[in-house]
Amino acid sequence: MDLAFADEGPGPVVILLHGFPLSKAMWDEQLKGLGNVYRVIAPDLRGFGESPVPEGTYTMDAMADDVVELLETLEIAGPVVVGGLSMGGYVALSLAARYPTRVKGLILMDTRAGADTPEAAQGREATAKSVIAANSSTPVVEAMLPKLFSKLTLETRPERVEPMLSVMQGTAPQGIVGALRGMAIRPDRRADLPKIAVPTLVMVGEDDILTPPAEAQAMAQAIPNARLEVIPKAGHVAPYENHAAANAAILRFLKSLEQSH
Ligand code: MLT
Repeated sequence: MDLAFADEGPGPVVILLHGFPLSKAMWDEQLKGLGNVYRVIAPDLRGFGESPVPEGTYTMDAMADDVVELLETLEIAGPVVVGGLSMGGYVALSLAARYPTRVKGLILMDTRAGADTPEAAQGREATAKSVIAANSSTPVVEAMLPKLFSKLTLETRPERVEPMLSVMQGTAPQGIVGALRGMAIRPDRRADLPKIAVPTLVMVGEDDILTPPAEAQAMAQAIPNARLEVIPKAGHVAPYENHAAANAAILRFLKSLEQSH
C-alpha cells in the first residue's frame, strides 16, 4: 500500500499515526513544532486523507504493515519512535507487538489497549451500514464531532474544529467502513502491555470522553517503563487541541529517550 505522508525535518524519526476518521492533517502543529529537531513522518492510513482506499476490512495489523512498508520505502532501517492517537494508537500497539525491533519508543495518545465490547462492535457495524446507505461520511461526522473535541474547543475554537470537520466530511465512505470493521475486530492487547520493553509516553486530554484519563492511567500502570501526561484544556484529539502542552510533553519524552541511548 503506497501511503501518502508528510515528512518534515532532520534528526531521529518520529512517526505519527492519526485517529479516526481524520488524516495526517491533525498533526499540523507537531510537524511544525517537533520538525526542527526531529524528522516527523505522518502518513495517511489506508482509506484516509490522500492514501488509497482499498475495498474490505482494514485490520489494525494491515494498517501497521502499511506503516512498516512505508519505513522500508523510505529506507529507514533502525528503530523509530512510533506515536498514535486513538485508532492510530491501536495501530501503534499492533506494530510494537509484531515488529518490536522497529520501535525504540512509543507515544500512546487518547487510546486504549482493550478490544471493543460486543455492544461497541455492534454499534460500529450499525454505523458502517448507515455510511453505506447514505454513501457519505455524514452519519459518522455527526456522531463523532461532539465526542472528539472538548466542550471548550467546540465552543470557543471554531478555527481548530472546522479543518477537522472538513477532513471528516471529505473521507471516503469506504475508508470509514473499512476502518470501523477493522476496529470492531481488533484484538485485546492488554496482555501485551507488560511486555512493552521500550520507554512509553501515555498522553490523554483531561476532557477526553472517548478514552478517558482513567483508561490512560491504567495503560501507563501496565507498561513497565511508561510515564503519563494529562493535557489540560483538551479532549480526545489532545495534541491538536492543545498543541503547546502536547508538544512540550512529547519533547520532554523524546529528550529523555535520547539521553537513555
Ligand atoms: C479515534 O479517534 O480514532 C476513534 O475514537 C477510535 C475508535 O473509534 O475506537
